[in-house]
Amino acid sequence: APAPYNEPFRPQVHFSPRERWMNDPNGLVFFEGEYHLFFQHNPLGDTPGHISWGHAVSTDLLHWHELPVAIPATDKELVFTGSVVVDEKNSSHQCENHQPCLVAIYTAHNDTPHHEAQALAVSQDRGRTWKRFSGNPVLDRNVPEFRDPGVTWNDETKSWLMVVSLPNDHKVVFYTSPDLIEWTELSTFGPAATVSGQWECPNLLKIPTADGKQSLYALKIGVNPGSLQGGSGEQYFLGTFDGHHFTQSSDPGSHGWTDYGKDSYCAISFNHLPAGEPPTLIGWMDDWQYADKLPTVPWRGQMTIPRHLALLKDADGLALQQTPVTAPIRAKSTSLVASITQPTTTLFTTDQPTELTLTIDPADAQTFGLRLYSDPAHWTEVAIDRTTMKLSTDRTHATNITAPDFPARTEAPLSPNRPLDLHLILDRSSVEVFAQNGTTAMTNLTMPTTQNLRVELFRTQGTHPLKVIGQRWTLRSVWS
Ligand code: FRU
Repeated sequence: APAPYNEPFRPQVHFSPRERWMNDPNGLVFFEGEYHLFFQHNPLGDTPGHISWGHAVSTDLLHWHELPVAIPATDKELVFTGSVVVDEKNSSHQCENHQPCLVAIYTAHNDTPHHEAQALAVSQDRGRTWKRFSGNPVLDRNVPEFRDPGVTWNDETKSWLMVVSLPNDHKVVFYTSPDLIEWTELSTFGPAATVSGQWECPNLLKIPTADGKQSLYALKIGVNPGSLQGGSGEQYFLGTFDGHHFTQSSDPGSHGWTDYGKDSYCAISFNHLPAGEPPTLIGWMDDWQYADKLPTVPWRGQMTIPRHLALLKDADGLALQQTPVTAPIRAKSTSLVASITQPTTTLFTTDQPTELTLTIDPADAQTFGLRLYSDPAHWTEVAIDRTTMKLSTDRTHATNITAPDFPARTEAPLSPNRPLDLHLILDRSSVEVFAQNGTTAMTNLTMPTTQNLRVELFRTQGTHPLKVIGQRWTLRSVWS
């Protein structure tokens, strides 16, 4: 058998559990020098079931150390998605020895009868062990579906704020609490924009503008199925939160998709980050359409690269800007300079995970981009079409995976006013694309047939040289 973390398809710069099933990230929190990543996990199998909270810690968001299951499923409840907060001042009266403790707010899910309510667990030892709160559930509407609490400390109201989903109503509900135990309803948001499928995994985050002078709130909501690319996806709203209500901004750009690929879902942001650290998002790099059919062994599921978030305001209006976090693993750097008039040219070949930043002057080329060949018959194409002003990723030729809905070409609109740059993270089984200064993100699994890539630049039409200037980094595996 291949060495652990070196199996075919095993991501080298993204988190995946050593074994078994994983879906949503949960309880992202920074506490006493460690980033915590909890996650929806089946410790007993490689399909969803016996859902518990898995756990990993890191000091740089990239090198993760997996720990034993944090909150196990019981006969009575599955431990569905939720948050972890640092109870600095023992507001819950659950922290021992006058020390801050970690409080998890999760959805206790029951299949028979179908029921979901919000419950607490507490850790006195930096997330290593957890005890369920004796007064669970703390928030129950007596409805079958009511889940995925996103809880944060609201510094303006000096109280805890929860945003939680009523999936079939396409609504999120805001609640406030002084102690994480008594919750009072404040308001609801929705239905709005895309209301197909179910709404899941809401997350409200405060995001400073790129110049640091202002901030707005982003309300991010998972839609499954029926998102933009067909399966699971995430829309966001930008606006204000006055302590009671979220109000979507009237500026253009106040609604969008956090990611235009098929494989970014239930992303949430870190609580309790050190001052000055930008909001940081991690999502599940997968899609419910085929997540349980992927050919990865002995694990199933991986996370996106962590992304720093900022808000841009320009001639087009508002935009959410995502920047992948990779600095700690950037190794060898090479400049890329290319100028092509012919249809294709090879830029480089590699067997390592790679980060690329490219600034492109297309001259009179109409379509251009990169083809990532794993062998002559299998490739993923990342393209910009200037006629339609669309970014696309086409993985229909990338793999032999025949799971329905896996072969796909995803598309995102581009702005004629923003630069035509690309920023890519290429791992063994994924292609993450950030375009136009990170204002468009597109994440897709690829599962190619080999681990060697030949990266080709291509163009169509025109006769003038298309010019590319860029940088290429070899990324160090986080497992070595
Ligand atoms: C989203 C989701 C959540 C739920 C969890 C169960 O992927 O369906 O709504 O809490 O997964 O694992």
